[in-house]
Amino acid sequence: MSEADENGMGEILTAMRAAAEPSRLRLLSLCAQGTLAVSELVEILGQSQPSVSRHLKLLCDAGLLERIREGAWVFYRLAAHGAGSAMVRQILGLVSAADPVLSRDNVRLAAIRQARGQAAAAYFGANAAHWAELRSLHIAEKDVEAALTDLLGDRPIGDLLDVGTGTGRMLEVLGPLASSAEGLDASREMLAVARSRIEAAGLRNCLVRQADMYHLPFDDGRFDVVTIHQVLHFAEDATAAIAEAARVLRPLGRLAVVDFAPHGLESLRSEHNHRRLGFAADEVAAWCRQAGLTVRRILSLPGDPLTVTLWLAARPAADASPIFDPSIAIYARKGDA
Ligand SMILES: C[S@@+](CC[C@H](N)C(=O)[O-])C[C@H]1O[C@@H](n2cnc3c(N)ncnc32)[C@H](O)[C@@H]1O
Repeated sequence: MSEADENGMGEILTAMRAAAEPSRLRLLSLCAQGTLAVSELVEILGQSQPSVSRHLKLLCDAGLLERIREGAWVFYRLAAHGAGSAMVRQILGLVSAADPVLSRDNVRLAAIRQARGQAAAAYFGANAAHWAELRSLHIAEKDVEAALTDLLGDRPIGDLLDVGTGTGRMLEVLGPLASSAEGLDASREMLAVARSRIEAAGLRNCLVRQADMYHLPFDDGRFDVVTIHQVLHFAEDATAAIAEAARVLRPLGRLAVVDFAPHGLESLRSEHNHRRLGFAADEVAAWCRQAGLTVRRILSLPGDPLTVTLWLAARPAADASPIFDPSIAIYARKGDA
């Protein structure tokens, strides 16, 4: 055993060596801003794919990045745990945002994100009228909707926000049970369909408006229930979308996320613009905890070929103080202990 390992320094020295190189520091800075495909990192750095892949491998081996393979695609993001992960977050905190190389990378990242957003918007626009048909690729909608209604049914729904409402189906299902319901979507075409559907259903307590799920146009703590139904697999940054949804929940307010379990239908990405081929139960649960929510239930609805997962999480009571347990994040009211 080397002296470094004996002193418990091996892991941190490996991490420091890995980070101490300009291209790798740029990759770390980019991956700190979200989950990025290797092709996107290659485009931003302007280096060859083999060279970028070598850097990425070294950063993963050193515990600074995580690699996520999905079919033919590989994504990278900052590692969530470990000494290297903690160290890299500190280092990035010291790097000036005005650094010319990093600012240029950020401009390129913004352009890539914008182009991706435009492609998705064009896709949704072209498919607005056919969306209901595309939804039928997974298990019967009525089963998912019944499970969701059941999951939320133990308490009044109150004020509901449906993020990425699309053609407004969640408003049709949950709107009648809510005091008020608002659906947000980035696509005008989807909203046009949603408007006519909620009008046809006579849902006077429901309205829809155009907005971005990463910048919800509401103050903190405005809603009792937020739903994100079949939206996250399109998200550039699912963690940020969940954090923003959690922000607008009242104390004890509930977040219901519905999406696919991990699957291998690559055609959903190539033909239907899905960014992620489903999510592991733990992955979404961890994002909810990171957003300060307590995960209440995770329900799996197996289907062929796609399984649908439902996550129910809740904001703690206003007077709750977190008992910090990094793995399960249990919250208790003050005075319970
Ligand atoms: C698969 S559809 C789901 C629609 C609806 N929730 C449903 O289940 O029928 C995904 C929706 O998310 C919307 N969306 C994607 N990115 C968004 C964003 N950044 N902000 C708001 N809506 C977004 C799309 O426009 C699209 O209508």
